Amino acid sequence: VADVSKRHACDGVVVVVRSRAGSLDLFLELDMAACPPRERRATLEARLREAIASGRLGPGTVLPSSRVLAEELGLSRGTVVDAYSELVAQGCLRARAGGETAVAGQPRAADSAAGGGVEFPPVDLRSGAADLAVFPSGQWAAALQSALAATPGVWLDYPPREGVEELRSVLVGYLARSRGVLGSVDRVVMCCGLSHGLALLTDALCAAGRPRIAMEDPCLPRHRVIVAARGADIVPIPVDDDGIRVDAIVAADPDAVLLTPAHQYPMGVTLSVERREQLVAWARRRRRLLVEDDYDAEFRYERSPLGALQALAPDRVVYAGTLSKTLVPGLRLAWLVLPDWFVTPVVGAKWATGAENSVLEQLAFAELIRSQRYDRHLRRMRGVFRHRRDRFLAALETAVPHLRVTTITAGLHFLVQLPEGGPDESHVLQRARQLGVALYGLGRCWHGEPRSQGLIVGFGRPPEHAVDDAIRSLALVLQQASSDATGP
Ligand SMILES: Cc1ncc(COP(=O)(O)O)c(C=O)c1O
Repeated sequence: VADVSKRHACDGVVVVVRSRAGSLDLFLELDMAACPPRERRATLEARLREAIASGRLGPGTVLPSSRVLAEELGLSRGTVVDAYSELVAQGCLRARAGGETAVAGQPRAADSAAGGGVEFPPVDLRSGAADLAVFPSGQWAAALQSALAATPGVWLDYPPREGVEELRSVLVGYLARSRGVLGSVDRVVMCCGLSHGLALLTDALCAAGRPRIAMEDPCLPRHRVIVAARGADIVPIPVDDDGIRVDAIVAADPDAVLLTPAHQYPMGVTLSVERREQLVAWARRRRRLLVEDDYDAEFRYERSPLGALQALAPDRVVYAGTLSKTLVPGLRLAWLVLPDWFVTPVVGAKWATGAENSVLEQLAFAELIRSQRYDRHLRRMRGVFRHRRDRFLAALETAVPHLRVTTITAGLHFLVQLPEGGPDESHVLQRARQLGVALYGLGRCWHGEPRSQGLIVGFGRPPEHAVDDAIRSLALVLQQASSDATGP
């Protein structure tokens, strides 16, 4: 159903199409009467490209149907269909279920200048969230609905400082059975993403002086920013094939250590059993704090995964988890399981930040765990991602056998290591940009001078239907960059 209106502008006709199906007004500056028939498709295509490139039509914007737009512009429907199809082929638009056409993303500058087609559709292999399209929205809506029905009025009020008790209590049970975490409801504090949790922990440590916080080198750049911004001193600790170097921690003797034992970010290695024991012994002996970032450990692909480090010393280790990988980052829902003695300082720090999670969403997540839908979702996604990981690794083994890829037993990213003789990381990233592949390099993760080069490949990100394309594009980027490095 469309309600169409027109108004005149001095330089042509400004078309205002109000499509109720897509609920949008679409402004296009076009003077079709002045345009020779043979150029109409290209002109329409160019105007739409300009609108997308300038950001006026943002990603996800639903365009009017070809019939409505053709009617309004006085064009044949075939002309509009052809223009839409060309923009779909270029990766600017995408066809959606139900026959809708929506904006996919902005055309890249080089393509706009050339005015030509794009050889590869943009491929997103940045580590971060998993494929957003697999979010179980129906189940989430049902969980929200039942949260609303079961607890009338509760969600309208301010939440308790540490988070909703119902969720903290089911979470304790869930973490105990799935990761071996030892906790109790009064030691769980909800937070708005693990990043917020890290800010709270740093604030609580800073309240007692200026702490020295050890961090893995390399690590997630954002974590470095959060810790430094709160006034703590960062002590970088190297990582090798067995995880963070405990001998370097003992030598530096920091107040606290932030680490990713299950699946080191970004190197992908797991902290060995021996190092876990050494680390915990040091923390006990020196009465230090360990912060275990368990950000993507739910996606583990081996039969006998190591449980949480926290279980070895619940009095010394903060366990931190998040929904950012298992559901979506947009929920901003994460949790800390704290040693008893650290609960009051952290809850105090949380109160001072003024940030809290929505009660309704905490209740919905509790319902998702209680109904075991969360477990079922994870089991299904674990299978999907394991298969995906195997496809990526097999393809790279064939296409670029000279490049070493970190063996990954968990998580949603792997590391392609770049040897000293090349290809160079910045050159690979440049090639990737040219071929429409979004990737992060290892360079930004080092605290100081980079000690090695590599590419962090977030294989969880592309939608399932685009995985084969993503694999082909990545292999091509690496092949081209390798042959640039070795010469003809
Ligand atoms: C190492 C690491 N920790 C934690 C997270 C999740 O952070 P948040 O819960 O703030 O989204 C990420 C996300 O990419 C990560 O890479």
